[in-house]
Amino acid sequence: QMFIPLLLLLPTLIIANDPPPPSQSTVSIDPNTVLVLFGTRHGNRNPEKFVDAPDRRWGEEGELELTSIGKRQAYGLGKELRSFLGQLLDVNYKPGQAKFFSSSANRCQMTLQTALAGLFDPQGWADWNKETLDHWSPVPYSIDDPLLRMYSVKGCVNSDKAWDPISHDSLPDLRELVERSKPLLDYMKEKDGRDPTISNAADIADNIINMDFYNASYPEWLSNPTLKGYTASTIRKAFLSFAENHMNRCASYTPCRSMMGGLWTNHIITSLEAASNGSAMTRLIGYASHTEVTLSVMILLGIHKSELTTSAGFVIELRNGTSPPLVRLLQHDPNPVDDHVIYPAHLVPELSRKSDSHGWMPLSALKEFVSRSSFSDWESQCGINPCSLQSSFHSSSPSNISPSSSMLLAVFSF
Ligand SMILES: *[C@@H]1O[C@H](CO)[C@@H](O)[C@H](O)[C@H]1NC(C)=O
Ligand SMILES: *[C@@H]1O[C@H](CO)[C@@H](O)[C@H](O)[C@H]1NC(C)=O
Ligand SMILES: *[C@@H]1O[C@H](CO)[C@@H](O)[C@H](O)[C@H]1NC(C)=O
Repeated sequence: QMFIPLLLLLPTLIIANDPPPPSQSTVSIDPNTVLVLFGTRHGNRNPEKFVDAPDRRWGEEGELELTSIGKRQAYGLGKELRSFLGQLLDVNYKPGQAKFFSSSANRCQMTLQTALAGLFDPQGWADWNKETLDHWSPVPYSIDDPLLRMYSVKGCVNSDKAWDPISHDSLPDLRELVERSKPLLDYMKEKDGRDPTISNAADIADNIINMDFYNASYPEWLSNPTLKGYTASTIRKAFLSFAENHMNRCASYTPCRSMMGGLWTNHIITSLEAASNGSAMTRLIGYASHTEVTLSVMILLGIHKSELTTSAGFVIELRNGTSPPLVRLLQHDPNPVDDHVIYPAHLVPELSRKSDSHGWMPLSALKEFVSRSSFSDWESQCGINPCSLQSSFHSSSPSNISPSSSMLLAVFSF
């Protein structure tokens, strides 16, 4: 009887405790690198619901929006990418060299925009306003939700299905966590009013993370807890342990992980192949997305990982002066706000066995590993019926087409 829940728990236990990132970047770009891809989680954002605290002086951006800390993290990522890329990419943005993609969420678009401000500091012909915007010039990107935010693509019923046992805390380990945390969750309900769920406790964690960043004082129920057995420091830690719980659980739950990351990993492999066979000359491709999507992709790529800090993600290099073409997987993390570090990814044994001492492996090995869970036919993976979708577009007036459904429309018209 105990056997099955234990087995289900095992994968999450095994991948817990990621080693901490180094304090500085520890890799340089290879002189033969012809293409670099990077993916990033958005920077620090506001919680979904602010805790009631006297005299709150942070969060003016609004719920779930990118904060000034998040912008600084993304800018730091852009600066570090520039110093990593060096000569591979012109100092000025040129459309033939670089392509960027974002989820439709404001926080992802703003993260990408800020990172690109750190990456491109216009010089010479690209300078257009030295007076007030000397170091900035606009850079275009595409919004692509099937690629980077599948959970909000309208009609993707298989995404909803994959999320269901996580959203409802009905996976055995989540159910057990709710039971074990009952006193804490009930205390939250009593003091803050929100329902005693894991996602609400995770939102308290997001509040704490930002109160810490902005040196704000905690509400009384956190600074002087009246819950038996807790001090200010242990209750803070207890709530922080819920941070991103559902997102991380999605990435460690096979159906949710494939649904979130399968199309993006396919895009990555296709881009690497196109560069290696000479059909594309793009030198940099960047993506901005969410925790569960970026983390899912990293795990699908064979990176040993169970959580993802704001503005953290992956970097991939393709080396083409060799036969066969080689790839190297790297990670990037903020340290903790303005500085950013790039370092070798910690790979699962199957891939580290196929890598040399500098982390290079044949592109074909990565492709083989990733192909088990990636897909290009996302409508059928979603369970979307193209015919019923088309007819629902015809019957809906332009005013009620949501961002995600107009995204679908854009993809369909390609
Ligand atoms: C919070 O306090 C620390 C330490 O005094 C300081 O370095 C940091 O800039 C402050 N943060 C903000 C957002 O004011
Ligand atoms: C190169 O790779 C891309 C991506 O996999 C593929 O679509 C294309 O057909 C390939 N071209 C050649 C000439 O092999
Ligand atoms: C990679 O190497 C192949 C074969 O030599 C070549 O056709 C292709 O153009 C190269 N790709 C890039 C991006 O330089």
